[in-house]
Formats: sequence, structure tokens, C-alpha cells
Amino acid sequence: MKLRPHLPALGLLAALGIAAGGAAAQQTPPLAPLGPVPIPADNPQTDEKVELGKMLFFDPRLGGDASTACVTCHEPNQGWAFSDDVSRGYPGTVHWRNSQTIVNAAYLGKLFWAGAAKSLEAQAPSAAKGAVAGNGENDMMEARLAFIPEYRKRFNEVFGDEWPKIMHAWKAIAAFERTMVQTDTPLDRYLKGDESALNDAQKRGMALFNGKAGCIQCHNGALATDQKYYNLGVPPAVRWEEDGLAQVTFRYEQYAKGVTEEMYRSVKDDAGLYYRTKEKADMGKFRTPSLRYTLYTAPYMHNGAFWDLREVVEFYNAGGGTNEFAENKTELIKPLGLSDDEIDDLVAFVEAFSGPALRSKSRRRPCLTMRRCLLPRTEGGEDDNSQRELSKRSRGGRRRSARRKVPDVAPLVSAHIRRHHGDRVGCDELRHRHGAKDAGHGCHLSAQADRALERSEAR
Ligand code: HEC
Ligand code: HEC
Repeated sequence: MKLRPHLPALGLLAALGIAAGGAAAQQTPPLAPLGPVPIPADNPQTDEKVELGKMLFFDPRLGGDASTACVTCHEPNQGWAFSDDVSRGYPGTVHWRNSQTIVNAAYLGKLFWAGAAKSLEAQAPSAAKGAVAGNGENDMMEARLAFIPEYRKRFNEVFGDEWPKIMHAWKAIAAFERTMVQTDTPLDRYLKGDESALNDAQKRGMALFNGKAGCIQCHNGALATDQKYYNLGVPPAVRWEEDGLAQVTFRYEQYAKGVTEEMYRSVKDDAGLYYRTKEKADMGKFRTPSLRYTLYTAPYMHNGAFWDLREVVEFYNAGGGTNEFAENKTELIKPLGLSDDEIDDLVAFVEAFSGPALRSKSRRRPCLTMRRCLLPRTEGGEDDNSQRELSKRSRGGRRRSARRKVPDVAPLVSAHIRRHHGDRVGCDELRHRHGAKDAGHGCHLSAQADRALERSEAR
């Protein structure tokens, strides 16, 4: 399918749901309002399950050293993502990709930038266990949950477990994520017939989106994504040039994903879909992301290359960019010839894919006893009521000392894991340098992590 930028009828064709392409015209679904979230038959929603899932999402016990919860990289105040080019990682690492929002993830059939997971139930464990994300181990995480009377009670009520089963934790988290959706954006209201929901600039932007700018070719349907993979020529992450830790992660990921030695030594950029298919033609390709909620999720692209929506649109206007995998760059991306005003209109329209920010009123996690306890405040957690709660409690010495008497197993477990996992990345480097299969203690765990990654990719 080829797009000729100034084709006058294109706007109309796109509006009819048909992209230009001559005889081989392809069906392009038009933008549409977002319907109700799909619920899989084997994981029905209940209020109790959602509440449990939310607690688990906010609970760092589901990670290696009990420091890294889902929310650590999917912050409510940062668009339920993480506002840095590449995400923070497990302590001692940085991640290698930009953290995606969980908002509306429930509608996606391919999760992660390269589509490695097919459902939320499959995505959660690979996040909690992935070496540069949660870095947890199933039995350890399960044991931690079993220590907590409130979790015992809740898992029993929701799943009938005598002891919390870790696979049920992923189901509960998925159920919570299915409530993190937004179906009332200005665009939804406009598409349902409320003419006033978009302003004039946004209406002009919509015409460009469907026509001259050609965004609809890939960002189409209710989610504004075709969930296909493209190389747009997004430039490589600056981070990898400057930041040693980021380079270590990049090398680790390359190795964990089983690239050839030649590629390990020569390729300097994220090859995206290639790691899953091992097809050269897939190098540098990433899944089209949804444009919903992007008002809150800067920076953009798999490596956070662009810091605001205008930068993104300017990138498209220039015909994309170049990266190491230039031979795979899609032909659908061409210079657009948009004027400054047109760029403004298009940006204004992209903003209409987001409604008000979704907040979280509480971030409670259960304590070792049945008493109420709250997570410490995390960076910028303005919607977090824990600070108020904590200061309320410390108002009398008696209450403060009562609080101290509630021990948490997390630090103990954490110390144990640090002792044994601390050198994981160093160990991988050692393995590469010596070309050995196993460079001694620590590499055993490292190999486990590799296998977990492979398993999650194979799904
Ligand atoms: C250390 C940071 C970190 C932690 C912890 C983390 N994530 Fe993520 N999350 C990311 C990054 C980075 C990506 C994109 C990674 C990629 O594509 O390779 C991502 C992607 C996702 C996606 C895919 C969204 C999409 O559009 O495809 C979902 C859903 C998600 N995470 C949920 C979770 C859940 C649930 C947990 C806890 C079990 C979790 N994450 C823990 C950083 C993190
Ligand atoms: C050929 C398919 C294609 C076309 C056409 C296209 N996009 Fe994209 N878009 C993608 C892909 C793929 C990505 C992710 C690329 C990456 O990370 O390397 C993306 C990323 C984005 C992002 C960043 C989203 C995020 O969560 O980081 C925005 C915003 C965006 N596109 C807007 C637009 C606009 C506006 C247009 C029209 C000018 C457009 N796109 C045209 C495929 C396309």
C-alpha cells in the first residue's frame, strides 16, 4: 500500500474506511469509539478480585528484593507509565525500553513494544520476573504472599486458595488492569455525535490525520493501532551512547534473546521484533502503539526518543528518521509537507485521544498482621494519601511505637536475594567475556532468568 500525500480524495476514502492503494486497496478501519473492555471467559471480573489485583499492583513483594512493584514503573502521576526515555529498572539496572501505560492495555492483543505477550495474564509474570523489571522468582513471591494473613484471606475468598497461588496473583492484576480504561475522551464523544467535543483546530487535525498526514494507515480502529509492526527509523537511544548501565542492559538483553555472536558484537540498536522472529526483515520493527492516553505518557517511542507530541509530529513530517536497520524502514512513512499551523492542528487532534487523567485514591498494601498499613510515598505521588495517614499515626508516641512493632518480612527476604542475585549482570558480562556457558555461582540464577525470558517470549 502506497500513500500519495496530496491525493485529494484520500480524506474521503479514509473516512469510508478505505485506504488509498489503487487496485490493491486495503481495508483500513476508521477511528471509532472505544467499546466495553473484553473479559476472558477464564478470568471473570469481580469487585473483590479487582481490589486484590490493585493491592498486588502496588505491592513490591511481587518482585525480587521487594523493592520494585508494578507501580514503580507505571506511576499514576506519570500516565501510569514512567516519565523517562527508558524506564527505571530493577535496582542496579536501568531498563532498556520506554515504559508503556497500562491504561487501555486491556484491549490490546499484543503487549510490549515488540508484542511479546498475548494477554494481560501472560504479561504480568514476565514483568514481575524479567531481570531488568521485577526480577522476582515464583516460589519466593508466593511465599511472601503466604506470610500475609490478609492475602491468605483474600486469595481464599477470590480464588478458593488455601495458600495464595502466584498464577492467581497475575489473574487478579489483569482484572485490575481491565478497570484501567478510558472510553470517554473528547474523540469518543465526537464520534458518538457530540459535534462540540472537538474544537476547530482538532477537527482540522482529524482531517489531516485521516488524509494528508496518513496517520490512519497504522493508527486506526477504536484503539488507534493496527497492532502491526513497523520500522519508522526512530533514531537510537542517546542513553546507550552515554550511560554504562544502559549499555550493560542492552548487551544483557541481546544475549538473553539469543542473538548471534556477530550481531552481539556489531549491532548497537534495539532490533525490536527481530528478537522474537529472528528474521532480518523484522529488525527495528515495533508494534504500533495506541494513541489513547498519550497526552500523559511522554516521552514517546520504544526508546523515549521524543519528549512531546509536537516533536513526534515533526518527526513524521520530516518523513521519519534513520536507524541502523534503514533497509527495513516502512514505505508508508514519507515527508508530509505539513505547514506549522497544520502541525499544530494535528497535535491538537492527537490530544483528543485522551480524557482527564486517571487517578488512584489509595495505594494500600496489606501488612504482616491484619492492621491497616500503607506504602511509603513514592516520587511525585500527589494522589497518594499515605503521607497523611502516616503523619496521623505518628501524632502520639504510642501509636508510633505500635507501628514499629509490625515487622515486615520484605527486608529479610530482600537481604537474602541481594546476597544471591546481586551480581547477576556482572556474571553475564563474565560469561560473554570468557565465552563460557557458566561462570560460576550466580550464573545459575542468571540462566534461570534467561530461560524465564525465553519462555515469556515464546508465548
Ligand atoms: C522496572 C520497571 C517495570 C516494572 C517493575 C513493571 N513494568 Fe510494565 N513495563 C515496563 C516497560 C519498560 C515496558 C515496555 C517493555 C518492552 O516492551 O520490552 C512495560 C510494559 C508493560 C505493559 C504493556 C503495555 C502495552 O502497551 O503493550 C503492561 C500491561 C505492563 N507493563 C504491566 C506491568 C505489570 C502488571 C507489572 C507488575 C507485575 C509491571 N508492568 C512491572 C516497565 C516495568
Ligand atoms: C507506518 C505506520 C505508522 C504511521 C503511518 C504512523 N505511525 Fe505513529 N507509530 C507507529 C509505530 C510503529 C510507532 C512506534 C515506533 C517505535 O517506537 O519505534 C508509532 C508511535 C507513535 C506515537 C508515540 C506513541 C507512544 O506511546 O510512544 C505517536 C504519538 C504517533 N505514533 C502518532 C502518529 C501520527 C500523528 C501519525 C501521522 C502523522 C503517525 N503516528 C503515523 C506507526 C505509524
